[in-house]
Amino acid sequence: MKPAQTQKHHIFICTGKDCKKNGCEGLKSDLKQSLKNRNIKTARLIKTKCMDYCKLGPNLVVNGELLHDCKSEDIPAILERLEIQKS
Ligand code: FES
Repeated sequence: MKPAQTQKHHIFICTGKDCKKNGCEGLKSDLKQSLKNRNIKTARLIKTKCMDYCKLGPNLVVNGELLHDCKSEDIPAILERLEIQKS
């Protein structure tokens, strides 16, 4: 078994009912656009179902780290985490 070479980072975004109510769809498209704008090709944005933290959403898992109450204004900090974890 070999690890994937190109998909180094994974961002899971909950698109469950409560996270939708709290704005995950806008966050998802802003994140997608930011990854594209910064030409970050090593990260993959993956939609998930409910993560069971409904009242704390929108919820993301960035490289295995669970983040609550994520907003579009948090995107620079989220992408910075990816940069830090590059090495
Ligand atoms: S709907 Fe997102 S954690 Fe439940």
